[in-house]
Amino acid sequence: MCGIFGYIGFRKATPLLIEGLRQMEYRGYDSAGVCLSEKNGLKAVKAKGRVGELVKKAANQDLASTIGIAHTRWATHGAPSEKNAHPHLDCQGDIAVVHNGIIENYQALKKILEKEGHCFVSETDSEVISHLIEKFSEGASFEGAVLKTLKILQGTFGLAVVKAGEDKIIGARKGSPFILGLGDGEMFLASDASAILKYTKKVVYLDDGEMVTIGKDGFLTRKLNGEVSEKEVCELKWNAEQIEKGGFKHFMLKEIFEQPQAVANTLRGRLASDTVKLSVDIDAKAVNRIVIMACGTSFYSGLIGKQLIEKFCRVRVDVEYASEFRYRDPIVDKDDLAVVISQSGETADTLAALKEAKERGAKTLGIVNVVGSTIAREVDCGIYLHAGPEISVAATKAFTCQIAALALLTAFLQEQRTGRADPEFLRELAGLPEKIQDILDHPQEISKIAEVFRKTRNALYLGRGFNYPLALEGALKLKETSYIHAEGYPAAEMKHGPIALIDENMPAVFIATKDQTYEKILSNMQEIKARGGRILAIVNPRDKEASNLADWIIETPVVMECLSPMVNVVPLQLLAYYVADAKGIDVDKPRNLAKSVTVE
Ligand code: F6R
Repeated sequence: MCGIFGYIGFRKATPLLIEGLRQMEYRGYDSAGVCLSEKNGLKAVKAKGRVGELVKKAANQDLASTIGIAHTRWATHGAPSEKNAHPHLDCQGDIAVVHNGIIENYQALKKILEKEGHCFVSETDSEVISHLIEKFSEGASFEGAVLKTLKILQGTFGLAVVKAGEDKIIGARKGSPFILGLGDGEMFLASDASAILKYTKKVVYLDDGEMVTIGKDGFLTRKLNGEVSEKEVCELKWNAEQIEKGGFKHFMLKEIFEQPQAVANTLRGRLASDTVKLSVDIDAKAVNRIVIMACGTSFYSGLIGKQLIEKFCRVRVDVEYASEFRYRDPIVDKDDLAVVISQSGETADTLAALKEAKERGAKTLGIVNVVGSTIAREVDCGIYLHAGPEISVAATKAFTCQIAALALLTAFLQEQRTGRADPEFLRELAGLPEKIQDILDHPQEISKIAEVFRKTRNALYLGRGFNYPLALEGALKLKETSYIHAEGYPAAEMKHGPIALIDENMPAVFIATKDQTYEKILSNMQEIKARGGRILAIVNPRDKEASNLADWIIETPVVMECLSPMVNVVPLQLLAYYVADAKGIDVDKPRNLAKSVTVE
């Protein structure tokens, strides 16, 4: 995580650096800092906390330079504090580094550097980088010293370096995102395209193991062996308005309301009445097994994907936490299709799992939102979500669009394997944006229920079949945005333990729309009622039985069972949002979290 930003050009750098950090604050918000390359040397300003704190401190400083680097931190090594905030300087204060990633051999390097007389001021792994560059600077050019440093760093990095007296910024990446923005007489570097979108749409994606030297009129990329590399200039498709709140109080709310459009975008051009068009090069008949790998919310959409593919295509699907997959000796081979799901396309564990599957010979397919992200570039083929930027830390539209993409993949595989995709499934899929909109037309009832939920300390989310992963997702949304402990369970498992927790203080949220397990869910609801528990039920319109058992209900339109999670999730997202907002939490940036988890 962490966000890095750099600017070199003709404008005063500080306001741009601050704006860049604001756009990337979702990547981490424990501390922030800038370093400007002023005429009389480097000047760094750092602050604990949000970018706003940095702005207050920077206001009293005379920062005139047109060259600078900046950082917003998500702490890994060393507590959130001013001294651990980036940029990190060398002993002389002539070299400054901002870093995103983890330097795994930092302790060994630090020991050597300390023995040689280098003084460290922070507890971070990142500080070794500036001291190493200092060490290697003797008799070497700026580039030469950085190159030598990069060669001995183990772990991951996206980094930017400035040096006093040098009219350039050096950047590099290995395993952490890094993008270069090309302006007219100015250049930008950032961890994320959203930070540079305001200034330019012309970008260059740095590859792993590449270093770049940036001046205001150009750039030069090299591989770590010093060889110059050729880069393609790409055009960003997102526009600047998409990263504004557009009248909504929070990005999370905006993104929930964007879902009808976002899902329509995922489906656009890919879905016809009797066929699905995907540009994925897969020999569907040869696929023996599918393994889906992802983290967090993306993992939960994967669980729904498993059920979809197994139901329609009769291919075995395993779903794996990417973080666990790579630390076993997983059974994967060339007859497997490995599907990785990631909104950001940068999640370190998902990327590592993808590499593991590739090494073992599997064909790989990505379901990714961020165009040009590392995972999108590493997979053999993929399906972009086209959901637009998701800024809020809590994933919402990414989830519904991931299910839409998995549904497209399902229909594609079914058609390839059997000669025909289920027409009813395709029809239902096409109608989903409208059904999602139906729920969004009446958010008021949910905000009333949130008033009750804000007072609870625990909640249980229960669902079955296709809606079991939704219980997990609903619980995750509540806990991460509202700091209320919530657990998701398959409803029938409740009686094997969690039912012991039920009393009038622990509400249960049931996904109780009409499907093949509806009658069973009613029994599970009875079991909760019999123990004095209170129930919020997601039900279909005109439902009598589930509604009679519930203390509160939220209605969602009738949808084919296997696609019902795409509508049923919307009230769960809204509930989490309204509870968090009622509790006065910074909904878009809940504590301890970051949007894109680029460390293991
Ligand atoms: C939860 C959430 C996270 C992400 C997870 C994976 O709301 O956002 O659980 O789903 O960090 O991120 P991606 O999809 O970017 O790989």
